[in-house]
Amino acid sequence: MCGIVGYIGKEEAAPILLDGLEKLEYRGYDSAGIAVYNGTDIKITKTKGRLKFLAEATNEGLSMPGTLGIGHTRWATHGAPSDINSHPHANESGTIAVVHNGIIENYLFLKDYLMKKGYNFVSDTDTEVVAHLLDHYVKKYGEILEAVVHLMNRVEGSYALGIIVKENPDEIIAVRKDSPLIVGLSPEGNFIASDIPAILKYTRDIYLLEDREIVRLSRDGVTVYDVFKEPIIKEITHIDWDITAAEKGGYEHFMFKEILEQPKALKDTISPRIHNGEVVIEEMKMTDEEIKNLKKIYIVACGSAYHAGAVGKYVIEDMARIPVEIDIASEFRYRNPIFEKDSLAIIISQSGETADTLAALREAKKNGVKTLAIVNVVGSSIARDADNVLYTWAGPEIAVATTKAYSTQVSALYLIGLLFAKKRGTIEDSLYKETVKELVSLPDKVASLLKDFDKIQNFAAKKQNAKDIFFLGRGVDYATALEGSLKLKEISYIHSEAYAAGELKHGTISLIEEGTLVVSLATQENLFNKMLSNIKEVRTRGAVIMAIALEGNTEIEKEADFVLYVPKVLGNLAPSLSVIPLQLFSYYIAVGKGCDVDKPRNLAKSVTVE
Ligand code: F6R
Repeated sequence: MCGIVGYIGKEEAAPILLDGLEKLEYRGYDSAGIAVYNGTDIKITKTKGRLKFLAEATNEGLSMPGTLGIGHTRWATHGAPSDINSHPHANESGTIAVVHNGIIENYLFLKDYLMKKGYNFVSDTDTEVVAHLLDHYVKKYGEILEAVVHLMNRVEGSYALGIIVKENPDEIIAVRKDSPLIVGLSPEGNFIASDIPAILKYTRDIYLLEDREIVRLSRDGVTVYDVFKEPIIKEITHIDWDITAAEKGGYEHFMFKEILEQPKALKDTISPRIHNGEVVIEEMKMTDEEIKNLKKIYIVACGSAYHAGAVGKYVIEDMARIPVEIDIASEFRYRNPIFEKDSLAIIISQSGETADTLAALREAKKNGVKTLAIVNVVGSSIARDADNVLYTWAGPEIAVATTKAYSTQVSALYLIGLLFAKKRGTIEDSLYKETVKELVSLPDKVASLLKDFDKIQNFAAKKQNAKDIFFLGRGVDYATALEGSLKLKEISYIHSEAYAAGELKHGTISLIEEGTLVVSLATQENLFNKMLSNIKEVRTRGAVIMAIALEGNTEIEKEADFVLYVPKVLGNLAPSLSVIPLQLFSYYIAVGKGCDVDKPRNLAKSVTVE
């Protein structure tokens, strides 16, 4: 949600800022802006719409000379996308410029306070109060660091801020609370950014900032302070993954590239945790005793990560026989859940920065519940706050719609389910061994599904004018249906809903009419006949059926208009395979409709506001 970048060094800042913003555009893309100090003044250019308009307005940055600057790409929360509401925001005299990610919750109160003091506001944003409040405190206390400390005491909400001040022409000040921010270090200059890819071209040495840390960046150094303005010694994190991992590499869309990367992402996530046919999760600090005593698991996440959790609920309950309660993070954090002794909260997040998920993790910890995070972004807030972290090694995921991160989240849950089942003695040894073996074979099976796209592409081409598409499944197929439906609606804008197949007739079946497409997942052998009955029910009412079934199942062809087969696999592991054709189906529909697949309207990759 919103991307921040800042640079101070020997090079021209504006082209570096534009380059960094391009890497961050997935975080928000309804407007963008940069502020550069040109040796005399702070110059600001900001434009509504995609980054390319800002690049045009600044002649690729060349019309904004200067070696110190900050930039922002926005996902609007307060005030519609417009030039005026875009960041950076400045004080009235234009001597302080600010970029902000997060929400200042008490901005109306602060705005009122500042207006009474004579400050004039030009935008509808919450961020503008930061520029004016800093102005107020700089005048009062005489220097920016002190002003920032006072600002932190006054503002409520979440923020990552990049600040430049005309009177301090050799520094950038930055601070974070509940919004991600990193610092990049290099001999050519220093950087701030919301995410690593923005600066990876320039440096691999970074500081991961903690909440309430303040940074002062100069051309040749970086100092980090606590809220008392005491310097803090920070450890440098060296990033060893390659920038090409975060680039399109010749593909038309990141989403397609990321779909194709799933075999590798799965292998990287699963293989290091299998030793001689046994699941070994070295990062897991829970003792065998703690695992045996587990009475309950809460799985908490948002969006697709929640859908991965839905697979986890079925699988963990089935294999490890522990009751699993699954919750949407924004509900969990406020619903006053009953926290039981000997329970575990599994928190799932690709970005590791989702505001509601982070808050849910903290809520669980506050109530004495052990936490285990399944996270993709190394060093992210959720990874740092959790008691245990199981990283999904999907690599950087740039497309807003998740594919490879989702798949690795599901595989991480299989690992946890198997480990817990083994330790608790709830799985027969032969089934355990077979499941581990099949888990290890998933990357190859997924790869086999990524060889031939024509059939899906042709079918998708026929369905791109659909008004509504329903997804049905039972058991883990229902969990996959949820994910398939979300994938479709978020990138193609076709209305879609997912139902547990037995539930449709309790109301929603009235929406089925002649020609309505119903995507029916039928990979669960023990539930196949039930599923077939549900397919017949909708077919009788005119539905067209696209089915996903296991290879060798010919029965399904009698009831489905179009069948996509996935390799035979144990029922619990089927979601890893059946989601692949669903991702491709959504992708091709969206491409066919001319949608912006990687940056769907109204969305952002990392939801750092609640
Ligand atoms: C959908 C999608 C979102 C995310 C959700 C959680 O394709 O990507 O639904 O799954 O916003 O994000 P993370 O996993 O970063 O917490």
